[in-house]
Amino acid sequence: MTTTLITGANKGLGFETARRLVEAGHTVYVGARDADRGRRAADELGARFVQLDVTDDASVAAAAKTLEADGGLDVLINNAGIETRTEDNSVPVAATVTADHMRTTFETNVFGVVRVLHAFLPLLQRSAAPVVVNVSSGLGSLTHLSDPDHPAHFYPGIAYPTSKTAVNMLTVQYAKAFPALRINSVEPGFTRTDLNGNTGTQTVAEGAEIIVRMAQVAPDGPTGGYFDVNGPLPW
Ligand SMILES: NC(=O)c1ccc[n+]([C@@H]2O[C@H](COP(=O)([O-])OP(=O)(O)OC[C@H]3O[C@@H](n4cnc5c(N)ncnc54)[C@H](OP(=O)(O)O)[C@@H]3O)[C@@H](O)[C@H]2O)c1
Repeated sequence: MTTTLITGANKGLGFETARRLVEAGHTVYVGARDADRGRRAADELGARFVQLDVTDDASVAAAAKTLEADGGLDVLINNAGIETRTEDNSVPVAATVTADHMRTTFETNVFGVVRVLHAFLPLLQRSAAPVVVNVSSGLGSLTHLSDPDHPAHFYPGIAYPTSKTAVNMLTVQYAKAFPALRINSVEPGFTRTDLNGNTGTQTVAEGAEIIVRMAQVAPDGPTGGYFDVNGPLPW
């Protein structure tokens, strides 16, 4: 029986991923910072709920204790993420981005991933087949954003893409440090969720596909990679 924790699973891609992994027979923990939203989602899915705010050391440590007491963890999906906005609700670009935008974004998207990994690595190391999925973004690809012929080139934001580039580096470095772990970055694609005001072109079912696939990667499968649903992406 595989035990899977998904951060930020009360809605969006995390919720859909939880639904699919429950269906596949995993014991799924819906991590959510808000207890009401998290419990409601877990009840709807037939999953378990654990309170987990990725920006809060005490919350993450308590969640790790809960899972340890319940029997451990095999698969960690670092899904919780934000896209910080300016006061007029636009994406901060080179002319407007501040250190605060960067700090807020990194606190969730990057430090949150490190905080959760640090707390749960001891449990993952006790698993026979430990897996981590870091939900990155195609906007984290330096290759694509610097290529004038790639559609992502037009994207002017600063805080969100840099945070996802940092997530990709976490994937590379943790993969080398923990060869027994399958740890990969994934790009779900532009998906209709609250993150983008529901402007995405894909459904959550389409977006969750690569997350679900990498959550179930075999012990001899890839590690330290960056994938979308069609295969490897350039960093
Ligand atoms: N949608 C896309 O097009 C797209 C594309 C590429 C990558 N992604 C990535 O996919 C992941 C999921 O995003 P989504 O599109 O599903 O967005 P979403 O619907 O806004 O969901 C984000 C989830 O993260 C949670 N979250 C935010 N801050 C948190 C914190 N401090 N602690 C715990 N949970 C927190 C939210 O909880 P609350 O309900 O409490 O706010 C929510 O459950 C993100 O990492 C995002 O960057 C999305």
